[in-house]
Amino acid sequence: MDKKKFYITTPIYYVNDVPHIGHAYTTIAADILARYSRLKGMDVFFLTGTDEHGQKVEKAAKDKGLTPKEHADIMVENFSTLWKKLNISNDAFIRTTDPDHIITVKGLMQILWESGEIEKRQYAGWYCTPDERFWTEKDVVEGNCPDCGRPVEQIQEENYFFLMSKYQERLIKYIEEKPSYILPETRRNEVIGFLKNNTLGDLCISRPKSRLAWGIPLPFDENFVTYVWFDALVNYFSATKYLASGKVDWWPADHHLIGKDILTTHAVYWSTMLMALKFPLPKNIFAHGWWMVDGKKMSKSVGNVVDPNEMIGKYGVDAFRYFLFREVPFGLDGNFSEDALISRINTDLANDLGNLLSRFSTMAEKYFNGAIEKDSDISEDFVKACINANLDAHDSQAWSQLHFNHILDSIWGIIRAANNHIAQTEPWKLAKNDMEQLKRVMFNLWNALRLTAISLYPFMPETAEKIWQQLGLRSLTDEAGDRNISTWEWKPGYEIKISKGEQLFPRIEAKKENRTEKESKQMITEDNLISIEDFAKVQLKIGKVLQTERVPKSNKLIKLQVDTGEIRQVVAGIGQVYAPEDLTGKSIVVVTNLKPAKLMGVESQGMLLAATDSDGVLSILIPEKNVKEGAKIK
Ligand code: MSP
Repeated sequence: MDKKKFYITTPIYYVNDVPHIGHAYTTIAADILARYSRLKGMDVFFLTGTDEHGQKVEKAAKDKGLTPKEHADIMVENFSTLWKKLNISNDAFIRTTDPDHIITVKGLMQILWESGEIEKRQYAGWYCTPDERFWTEKDVVEGNCPDCGRPVEQIQEENYFFLMSKYQERLIKYIEEKPSYILPETRRNEVIGFLKNNTLGDLCISRPKSRLAWGIPLPFDENFVTYVWFDALVNYFSATKYLASGKVDWWPADHHLIGKDILTTHAVYWSTMLMALKFPLPKNIFAHGWWMVDGKKMSKSVGNVVDPNEMIGKYGVDAFRYFLFREVPFGLDGNFSEDALISRINTDLANDLGNLLSRFSTMAEKYFNGAIEKDSDISEDFVKACINANLDAHDSQAWSQLHFNHILDSIWGIIRAANNHIAQTEPWKLAKNDMEQLKRVMFNLWNALRLTAISLYPFMPETAEKIWQQLGLRSLTDEAGDRNISTWEWKPGYEIKISKGEQLFPRIEAKKENRTEKESKQMITEDNLISIEDFAKVQLKIGKVLQTERVPKSNKLIKLQVDTGEIRQVVAGIGQVYAPEDLTGKSIVVVTNLKPAKLMGVESQGMLLAATDSDGVLSILIPEKNVKEGAKIK
C-alpha cells in the first residue's frame, strides 16, 4: 500500500533582513508537524525557503552596494544556518530566484493570460512602496498606508490585473463549506467577514520594469515584471515540480503555516489564483499569532527584536523550541520574555522531566545494575493514567488543529504521573523488602519515559534521542514507528541496559534584578573598574570576513560582510591602513550586540576590534589559533 503523504510549508522569508523569532516560530511549527508525520510512517515533504524578488530586496541590496542576487546569496545563508541550528528537518529549500521556479511562474502566468483571467488596464492609485501594495482612496489614512503607517504616493500607470473579483462568491462558499480550510476559527471568521462586507477588487499582478526591475518578467510583456506576491505564492506549487521526489504528486499541501499578517494574501489571493488555474486548493491555511516583547511589536528601531541565535546560544535549542509552543497557544499572540523561558526550563524541563529521568536511571543502576526486565500490570492506576495521557498526546484532532500546547500538556501528564508514582511507591523502601514489586515499578517507569521520548520527539528531537539512549534503546526514529507510539508493553528484541547520562536540563539561576542606574554607577569604582556582569553585556564573537569593499567617497571606511554565525555587515574605519582585499578570509573579533548604526549612510551591524598604539600603529585583532566563526569570546 502507498504511504499516506503529508506536505507542509512555511512562508518563504524575505531576504532583506536577518531571521528573527517570528521566522523561527513558523519554521519550528512546520518541523514539529513534519517530524510527527514521519514518526507515524507518512511520506513527508516539508518545504521552506526565501522570497528574493521585489522592491524590499532590491532596496536592501542597493543600500549595501550589491546586486539583488549577490545580496540574496549572502542573506540566504542566515536562514539556512539558523535552520541547521534549530534542527529543522526540511526536505527542500526553495529560492524564488531558482530558474525552475521562474519557469513555473511564467508558465502559470501564460495559462492565466491565455484563458482570459488577466487584463491590461490603466490604473491610478495610492502606492505604499515598502509594502509594495496599492491602496484605494478610502483605504488611505491621512496620506499614510493603512497597514504600516508610512506615506503612500499617487501612481498612475498601465498594469496587468488578475480578475480576482469574479471569484468572490465562490471563495466565500468554499470557506463556509470547509470549516478547516482556514484556522484558527477566529481567523476564518475574519476572512469571511472581510469577503462578505467588501467588494473584492482585481489584483494588480505586474510592475513596470521602469519602476522595478528586480522580478520575473511577464511572459507576454517584457516591459513588466511579476508582482512579488504572485511570484512568491507560486513557490508552494513550483517546488513540488522540481524539488520533491518525482514519484509522488505532492500538490495540494496539507498545511500552509503563516503569520496572521499574511492571511489575506494566502486566503484570498492564493485561493483565487488556484481557482482560476483550476488547481485544487490547499487543505488548510493556518495563521498563527505574533510574538511581542513587553506587549509591544518587535522592531529594529526600538531595539527589542529577539534573535533566535542568541536564545539557542544561551538556553539550548530544545528549551527554546519547547518554550515557544508550550507558553502560548498556536494562533494567539504571545509575550516573549527570558524570565518566562528560564522559568519553563527550571520547572517543566529541569524539575519535572530532567529529574524524572535522572532518578529513574540512578535507581536502575543502583538496584538492578542497569538491567530492566519486562514485568508489568497494565491494570494499575499509574499505567492507565500514562496510557490516557499518551492517547491525548496523539489525539488526531489536536494534531490537525495544531493545538501544540495541549499536546505538550498531555505529554506532561505522563511525566507528572511518573513522578507521582515514584513518590507513592517509594522505590528506595521497596529495595529493602520487595524486589519483585520494585522490578515492576521500574519497568513501568521505563515505559512511561519511553512514551514520553517518542511523544516529545517532534518538539525536542535532541532531548528525545538523549532520553531514548539513556533508556538503553537504539535509534528513536528507526524503532518508534506508528505501532509503538501507543503500545504500553512494548519491548525491543534485545537486552535493555540503562546508562545514566548527563542532566538533560541543568537549572538556570534567575537573572539578577534589573539594577537601578544609581546602583550600576556605584559598581564602577574610583579606578573605573567594571563588574564581570557589565563586561558580560558585551557580546564578542569571532567573525570570518567574506567580502569587503570601500565605502564610496570615504578613504577611511571599509564595508565588510562577516560571518559571525550569522552574516552581518560591519563598517570599519581602517581603510587608511588596510586594503579591502587584505581582509577577505581573515578571522577577526566583532562586537555583535551593538545597536546598528549608519556610517556615511551605510548600515553597520557591529564593530570589529582593532588596537592603536601611541605611535599610531593600527592592527586588527586576530585569534592566535584557528577558531570557528561564531565562537564566543569570554
Ligand atoms: N515573503 C513574505 C511571505 C511570502 S509567502 C508566499 C513575508 N516574509 S517575511 O519574512 O516578512 O515574514 C515571514 C513570516 O514571519 C510571516 O508569516 C510573519 O507573520 C512572520 N512574523 C514576522 N514577525 C513576527 C512575529 N513577531 N511573531 C511571529 N511571527 C511573525 O511576509
